[in-house]
Amino acid sequence: MEKIVVIDFGAQYNNLLTRRVRQLNVYSELWSRNTSLEKLSDPSIKGIILSGSPCSVYQQDAYTIDPEVFNLGKPVLGICYGMQLMSFLLGGKVYSKGQDEYGRATLKVKADNPLTKDLKGEPIVWMSHHDEVVEAPQGFGTYASTDSCHNTIIWNKEKNLFGIQFHPEVTNSLCGMDILRNFVYGVCGCKGEWVMDSFVETQIKKIRETVKDEHVLCALSGGVDSSVVATLLHKAIGDHLTCMFVDHGLLRKGEPESVVETFEKQFGMRLVYVDAKDRFLKELAGVKDPETKRKIIGRLFIEVFDEESAKIENIKWLAQGTIYPDVVESGTDTAHVIKSHHNVGGLPKEMRFKLIEPLKDLYKDEVREVGKLVGLPAAMVERQPFPGPGLAVRCLGEITEDRLRIIRDSDYILREEIAKAGLQKDIWQYFTVDTGANTVGVMGDSRTFGTCVAIRAVTSVDAMSADWARIPYDVLAIVSTRIVNEVSGANRVVYDITSKPPGTIEWL
Ligand code: XMP
Repeated sequence: MEKIVVIDFGAQYNNLLTRRVRQLNVYSELWSRNTSLEKLSDPSIKGIILSGSPCSVYQQDAYTIDPEVFNLGKPVLGICYGMQLMSFLLGGKVYSKGQDEYGRATLKVKADNPLTKDLKGEPIVWMSHHDEVVEAPQGFGTYASTDSCHNTIIWNKEKNLFGIQFHPEVTNSLCGMDILRNFVYGVCGCKGEWVMDSFVETQIKKIRETVKDEHVLCALSGGVDSSVVATLLHKAIGDHLTCMFVDHGLLRKGEPESVVETFEKQFGMRLVYVDAKDRFLKELAGVKDPETKRKIIGRLFIEVFDEESAKIENIKWLAQGTIYPDVVESGTDTAHVIKSHHNVGGLPKEMRFKLIEPLKDLYKDEVREVGKLVGLPAAMVERQPFPGPGLAVRCLGEITEDRLRIIRDSDYILREEIAKAGLQKDIWQYFTVDTGANTVGVMGDSRTFGTCVAIRAVTSVDAMSADWARIPYDVLAIVSTRIVNEVSGANRVVYDITSKPPGTIEWL
């Protein structure tokens, strides 16, 4: 299958490049900068993109690549650092102006070139850099500039090597997709045959080749990601898959029952239900710090898997529903840690399983598409995401059974009312939080002193950023009244109107 390889130099959003190329119906993957030339020579690779990076080419230990990559006869597109590295390795000069250029810029095209073909007017691009190429290497010409950067697009015609200083992958580069399209189709000659079906087919093949006749344990949480992984694996290896559902006591109302019903009864998968409620709650007792909670839950998960899987013969693999935003937010080798997502940061250094994570390059909307293709019911695929650490990250401060009850019951009311109002599809995620604050109220003629529950509801495309959902006041009013009346211990409801950034979706 034709593909475009993106070489990873560590920029936070470099995976977005692969996703953008996939949106153009050409398969794309992010590969290590240490990938061998032999592997990169594969005829299925129609072009190579060198990603951005937090590095500067002159710094010690700057990420680099074998310069022979430019002699493979394949088109190469260097983006930002990728362009600077290419120029540096081929004898050009890179210069640090001592100040960052960040924001919109107007591209002034100086001469016809394949990347800006058919672009109209003066296209807007997004710059984010501190270094720039001041002298392009021999054989390269300058084809576009901005007011502050002469070499914004450079091209070596003979070898089909391109460098662009701006970031086509971000939506702020209004012509970004056109430029990528021109590269992928116009320069690399791709045919554009890739659709999600091919991803499913390839993954099924890959899983079979990797797993052979060994057995896989799939950590099933009932959320979209792990449900899709379980179904994909079931399609690939059937009975060689055992799903394990650990009930950590931090699930939503009705969740354990619905997971067992769907996967065991409807899909006929082998499912081991582990009741670990007491064990988790005991270890979490008294713990208030969010990261400590996450680490405990992550560790216990693995411990429980380890113990339970030892009872099943021949398990060599652990399948997880990790998706790309989980990887970024838990910190890659360069990105900062925001939260330790329990299926990434919580893993111990030594594990007796080999890991299999078929969705780790995909964004949520792509995962949902895969889910539909592998036959998951729409209701399951479209359900809102639910974090691995469950209600623990919605309970501020100490976790107790009673507080979990308040979250569960209020969350259930919110879900019911959102469904009644037909808003499920418009809101990415909605839930309630026990804020840990006790407030004074009045009910009947008596004073109350009870929990303040927060409603969190956001719209988002991929969870990387989010905005608070504009739920109609009438719906909020019903939810608020019902929570205070029906959930004993709750006497106040507030609505969280923070976007991400600066907030995150979950409170912890
Ligand atoms: P935040 O709170 O980081 O959440 O803005 C982004 C998305 O990720 C979910 N989330 C998690 N999912 N393990 C998961 O599987 C986790 O540890 C975790 N923490 C947050 C969150 O619900 C939202 O959809």
